[in-house]
Amino acid sequence: MIAQNISNIISESIIETVGGTPLVKLNRMVNTNKFELYGKLEAANPGGSIKDRTSLFMLRQALEDGSIKKGDTIIESSSGNMAVGLAQACLHFGLQLIVVVDPKLNSHTEKILKTYNVHIERVTEPLEDGGFLGARLARVQWLLNTVPNSFWTNQYGNLDNPLTHHTTMTEILDALQGKLDYLFVATSTCGTLMGCADFIHENNLETKIIAVDAVGSVLFGGPPLKRLIPGHGAGVPSQFLDTSKIHDYIYVDDVDCARGCWSLLEKEAILCGGSSGGMISAVKKYADKIEDNSNCALFLCDRGERYLDTIYSKDWLLKELPESKSAFTPLGGW
Ligand SMILES: Cc1ncc(COP(=O)(O)O)c(C=O)c1O
Repeated sequence: MIAQNISNIISESIIETVGGTPLVKLNRMVNTNKFELYGKLEAANPGGSIKDRTSLFMLRQALEDGSIKKGDTIIESSSGNMAVGLAQACLHFGLQLIVVVDPKLNSHTEKILKTYNVHIERVTEPLEDGGFLGARLARVQWLLNTVPNSFWTNQYGNLDNPLTHHTTMTEILDALQGKLDYLFVATSTCGTLMGCADFIHENNLETKIIAVDAVGSVLFGGPPLKRLIPGHGAGVPSQFLDTSKIHDYIYVDDVDCARGCWSLLEKEAILCGGSSGGMISAVKKYADKIEDNSNCALFLCDRGERYLDTIYSKDWLLKELPESKSAFTPLGGW
């Protein structure tokens, strides 16, 4: 599964190019030389996000243990990235795919999914208790009872989701010769967070793991509130989260995400999605607590192209997130 970052290797297929993503030094992001900051460029995965890893690992495990076979139908609830990762892997393995989405699915992702010939099931109303995620999960259950030979990869409860990231952690640690003091991780299913946290725990590492959650997400006990930027945050509690393995958590709102995205673009020429911007803002908020000479890493979870009509549209920002105007200046000005 680990692709090598060297150009003279031939990959047997597209799925062999998942993982093995670059760790990029983000020299210009923090106004201090107290600590180093690195971004794990998950946007470099062939499907454009960290969920390429999760979707591939879960399907491989299910194929290996006989839970699924060629021709079966995979069902999953996804706000976008998991769906694209699954679309790629399902096409490769000869599996059908139904994804259950909500109105936060952006138009670019929808076009990608349609091009991969994915069947899209859309929920339009949130559940009073459980939000859009709850509504999507209810639709998944209905589909499982209706579609023959169907299988729910279940990114919310499948232990192969966190297990995926033992490899991701190994890659980061190898690149940093084992010295990783802080890891910032955006949360939704908490698969990435807990996979990395379990690895840290099992290997008795000193790494402090900081969860980065969305204001309005219920994961750390806050009330559910309207959120505009998809990817991180959740309307229902995580089945993986074990706060005893987490050093701390920090909230970012939609404006923090947009500010972080534009800052990453302007200073590092990296065009990434909303949660990446959120993690950039989280590190800035947390900077005073970070000890001198620390190595800090965060995930650049997905590509920015899917956010061109939202985070990277100045008109959208002024209309939907008007506070942005006083909070930051995008590249090229307002
Ligand atoms: C862009 C982005 N960032 C962060 C996350 C959170 O990852 P996890 O589900 O592993 O908590 C997701 C999940 O879909 C995502 O799409």
